[in-house]
Amino acid sequence: MRYKLSFLSPARQHCHTLILGLYSDQRKPTGPSAELDAALGGLIATLLGKKGLDFHEGQLVPLHEPRGTAAKVVLLIGLGESASFSPAAFQRAVTAATRAAMEHGATQICNYLTTLETPKDAAHRIKQALLATADAAYRFDHYKGTPKKHATRLGQVHFASARRGRNTAEQRALREAEATAEGMQLARDLANQPPNVCTPAYLARAALRLRASHGLKVRVLERAAMRKLGMGALLAVAQGSRQTPRFIILEHRGVKGSQAPIVLVGKGVTFDTGGISLKPAAAMDEMKYDMCGGASVLGALAAAARLELPRSVVGLVPAVENMPGGGAARPGDIVTNMAGKSIEILNTDAEGRLILCDALSYARRYKPSRIVDVATLTGACVVALGHHATGLLSNADNLAEELLEAGAQSGDRAWRLPLWEEYQSQLRSPFADIANIGGRAAGTITAACFLSRFTKGQKWAHLDIAGTAWHSGKRKGASGRPVPLLTQFLLNTRS
Ligand code: BES
Ligand code: MN
Ligand code: ZN
Repeated sequence: MRYKLSFLSPARQHCHTLILGLYSDQRKPTGPSAELDAALGGLIATLLGKKGLDFHEGQLVPLHEPRGTAAKVVLLIGLGESASFSPAAFQRAVTAATRAAMEHGATQICNYLTTLETPKDAAHRIKQALLATADAAYRFDHYKGTPKKHATRLGQVHFASARRGRNTAEQRALREAEATAEGMQLARDLANQPPNVCTPAYLARAALRLRASHGLKVRVLERAAMRKLGMGALLAVAQGSRQTPRFIILEHRGVKGSQAPIVLVGKGVTFDTGGISLKPAAAMDEMKYDMCGGASVLGALAAAARLELPRSVVGLVPAVENMPGGGAARPGDIVTNMAGKSIEILNTDAEGRLILCDALSYARRYKPSRIVDVATLTGACVVALGHHATGLLSNADNLAEELLEAGAQSGDRAWRLPLWEEYQSQLRSPFADIANIGGRAAGTITAACFLSRFTKGQKWAHLDIAGTAWHSGKRKGASGRPVPLLTQFLLNTRS
């Protein structure tokens, strides 16, 4: 998809579909709608006074081959009452109008919703509009025999902007949103792949492709190298599967010389059966999404490279499949991680923290300024926060603030949970340094407590994306979250 800003009056737009929003309490056309109204001989003013046409939120009024304009279709969309129009309503309007335009077979869109006054700054409107457009246009139908009815692909979208010029805030917003959308698409495509295709080796190949396409430095460790490093926890998860594990290392070097990097760590469990502590059958297919943390780290690194961010970023993705094979780890097994800590595996379904603890131990060697891990770690997080907020836990208040802020800015929000030392005792093991589960109470917190044992002395935060990484039900599919949060965080963080 190609995105651009456009500065033309709507009457002069040569495009397939022109999208324009109208409020339900609007009496007469203003701004771009007034310009279009003049070209259409007063048609919009007439429609605004019509009974039965109230331009309530989501109402779509397509005008085909309107005389006086260069567009094939002018698509009017109702915005509801102007006083209650919110940034979320803005996103919904962009999504609904784009979907409708695609159903009309739009190949190019010119979108005037970006000239509205909400959200209040133009750069922000452009960013959100681009992300909503990319979301509406996203398809994953590689495995469908017959192409969808409206297979004509939308190729170009222009967003109307009032301010001309190079390197304006609006231009920068467009570029940042484009890179974010590209990172999200990569993450979604990887996650939506079926688990028989998206294996640890497949994830590693996807990462290696980012060398040529994005100029990232990428290395992949195989089992022997991990054994040498002493990654006993990660290897214990991998040992029940015929798929061999990979440890993926990506580096974006945005500055010459040495700068303490930000290290992003992403859980890459390409399928989580639970292992010997087998999961129930219902919805187990969704455990193909257990690599969404890893996929979002690939997406964020791709975005950082695309934007040539002037800072160092390292991505680490431990990739394994959690299966109950004959060689699988048992409940009761004690393993030793890379940092030399012994772990009693009481439940093989708490595998994410096992692979992450080795990756977090590995992260130390970069002497990072911050470590952020991303993982579909606990069902408990879905119970606590549902599907709107990502769970955030951290040992550093300023890092937590940076992530909350990046989430609020990008609309990809997180919510902090406590990581008080009182919770740590739930992880006591009679036989090892630590147990891998902490009982029913506060499952998301005790999972983070487990990880915190491997990040002592580091500025570290953990994002639990179990509720936000994918949608269930009718619109099943990966969401691309938290690529927007991570990309914004990398954009904001200069030192
Ligand atoms: N990948 C799951 C977490 C998960 C479950 C994410 C459902 C999204 C939806 C993770 O590996 C897991 O199984 N966690 C266990 C931990 C428990 C055994 C302490 C869980 O949440 O039940
Ligand atoms: Mn599990
Ligand atoms: Zn898992």
